[in-house]
Amino acid sequence: MYSARKPGLSVITSFGWGGVFLSDTFSKAEQEVVYRVIRARRDIRHFSGRPVPERVLLRILQAAHHAPSVGFMQPWNFILVHSKEIREQIKSSFEEMNADQLKQISETDRKELYSRLKLEGIMEAPVNLAVTCDRNRDAPFVLGRGPMPETDLFSTCLAIQNMWLAARVEGVGVGWVSILNRERVEEILGLPPGIRLVAYLCIGYPVEFREKPMLEELGWKSRMDLKSLIYENQWGQELKSFHLD
Ligand SMILES: Cc1cc2nc3c(=O)[nH]c(=O)nc-3n(C[C@H](O)[C@H](O)[C@H](O)COP(=O)(O)O)c2cc1C
Repeated sequence: MYSARKPGLSVITSFGWGGVFLSDTFSKAEQEVVYRVIRARRDIRHFSGRPVPERVLLRILQAAHHAPSVGFMQPWNFILVHSKEIREQIKSSFEEMNADQLKQISETDRKELYSRLKLEGIMEAPVNLAVTCDRNRDAPFVLGRGPMPETDLFSTCLAIQNMWLAARVEGVGVGWVSILNRERVEEILGLPPGIRLVAYLCIGYPVEFREKPMLEELGWKSRMDLKSLIYENQWGQELKSFHLD
């Protein structure tokens, strides 16, 4: 259902988004909410243990499914990992890979800081979700993907970001775990050839949403200055046509 005049979005009441009122304009308050959610989203590794209701999870997945995708390919699948044994195997891949990563840090202070970071919540999170990309969906011709074959993976990442933001408005935290042996995890999850693991996510109500990224709070890295990242016309050229202050 579409209403050209009515501003805003009605409350989403069911799994389907068929009955949602969409407007072509957004009020100031609605705009502010979007920016606030973007700023307030955090990667979460500490979970309270409170279960996530099914309907909340479905709304979050519905948000993922409304992401843009190359050629409208919708290459994603979502695997809810409930099995304790499977989670234990994933956790063990994390531990192996994390130890390997630690070895690669040469500076003593950084090594010490890294070893204190909590970088996953696989066993504690009420929901573990693997997000995959079916690289053969709609093959052989996917509109727009030919010249840039990675765009199916990019599309899957956009679905994950949608999910991350939707979860934030629901008060639910998402933590992305990439410190894994991808091929091993693909095997554990029984992914057939052509299905690629893009993300392994820990999902649940967080102990807290920090104001800043955990890595920033703990002194690993700060947010870079946006101005230093914007160029004009060519790589490295200073932006002169407008001022960012
Ligand atoms: C592709 C990707 C992989 C990530 N992998 C991990 C990870 O393995 N462990 C972890 O603790 N955080 C991981 N993160 C979270 C980042 O550390 C986090 O996004 C960043 O520090 C900024 O913090 P924020 O998300 O709270 O704003 C990952 C994030 C992305 C986008």
